[in-house]
Amino acid sequence: MNSDIEKVLVSEKEIDETIQRLGKELTQEYRDKNPLFVCVLRGAAMFMMDLVKSLDFKMEYDFMDVSSYGGENTITTGDVRIIKDLDTPVRDRDVVIVEDIIDTGYTLDRLVELFESRHAKSIKMVSFLDKPARRVKHVDVDYIGVKIPDEFVVGYGMDYDEHYRNLPYVGVLKPEVYTTK
Ligand code: IMP
Ligand code: MG
Repeated sequence: MNSDIEKVLVSEKEIDETIQRLGKELTQEYRDKNPLFVCVLRGAAMFMMDLVKSLDFKMEYDFMDVSSYGGENTITTGDVRIIKDLDTPVRDRDVVIVEDIIDTGYTLDRLVELFESRHAKSIKMVSFLDKPARRVKHVDVDYIGVKIPDEFVVGYGMDYDEHYRNLPYVGVLKPEVYTTK
């Protein structure tokens, strides 16, 4: 699997430092609020599980699965579908949406709209990665881990055709991995 990677964009050490920094920032903001962290499956699961361990306050978390594109297609359509909804009501809750990466912005834009319609008390977003070059929808992400260039990345929860999620770092695939499939 490692041999399919052309280069490492975010190393394990940088991931760890990023988590610690975000954990401190979030602890400042949420220590007395009992927030609900919403993990956007499946890409953000690994980030979320590391992130919550760095939080020093009472909180709850839940999971949601949405999809904007599937399989081998790496171009989003802007059509965001809810595949699994939350089990926890968000009314009057301070909600923190946890994403692996913000790319076009469609997913986060749609989720903010959804939680507003469900009367969340506040809605903020934390994204591990930010790919600003490809933004279509303007979204103000409150907490950002690492800004990356316009490249398709895998690892640390993120996939190409469901593989590579279990890499402990974020990397870019060799071009032949896409072309020889
Ligand atoms: P957006 O709706 O275009 O902002 O994209 C959000 C989702 O697309 C992310 O949560 C990821 O699941 C997926 N995605 C976007 N860019 C990448 C990438 O470079 N690698 C893997 N998944 C990506
Ligand atoms: Mg995602």
